[in-house]
Amino acid sequence: MISIKENNNNVKEFNLLYDKVGWGHWDENISQKALDNTFYSVTVYDNEKVIGYGRIIGDTICFLYIQDIMVIPEYQSNKIGTMIMNKLLDKINDIKKENPSLKVYVGASKNKEHFYEKFGFVKRVDANLGYGMILK
Ligand SMILES: CC(C)(COP(=O)(O)OP(=O)(O)OC[C@H]1O[C@@H](n2cnc3c(N)ncnc32)[C@H](O)[C@@H]1OP(=O)(O)O)[C@@H](O)C(=O)NCCC(=O)NCCS
Repeated sequence: MISIKENNNNVKEFNLLYDKVGWGHWDENISQKALDNTFYSVTVYDNEKVIGYGRIIGDTICFLYIQDIMVIPEYQSNKIGTMIMNKLLDKINDIKKENPSLKVYVGASKNKEHFYEKFGFVKRVDANLGYGMILK
């Protein structure tokens, strides 16, 4: 049975998912600090097995960032990612009631844009906002 838990930031599960999607995990103390500073997260399980995760980081009222959307390969293309995004967007819509001007960002990996477009995200250049940038 598929279930979803809010704010269940388990560092071992988080690092396991990082490995399973091929990103390679951070040191445990670094991941723990990242999770401690997470505003909101969801973890998805198939019975006891962790299969997906997503989180929101940010200042909690003006700027939020969707981060670390992960579904393990054997469960991909089964709408688990959609389930994660919908749950995060429910939270975002709650914040929007307090601050309708809230800005929500996602740093889509190359060729993953289509996944986020389904939830209303647009490329910054298409909204005449220039490119997003990252410090190298
Ligand atoms: C990207 C990811 C989260 C999608 O999760 P998922 O459960 O496989 O996606 P869903 O089944 O909910 O698919 C929803 C839609 O997104 C599309 N989509 C799924 N994976 C995609 C991908 N890798 N690239 C582009 N579009 C994708 C699907 O085609 C589907 O569209 P459709 O409704 O028109 O068929 C998952 O593939 C994953 O964890 N990948 C590895 C980690 C990663 O890259 N995360 C994103 C970082 S930016």
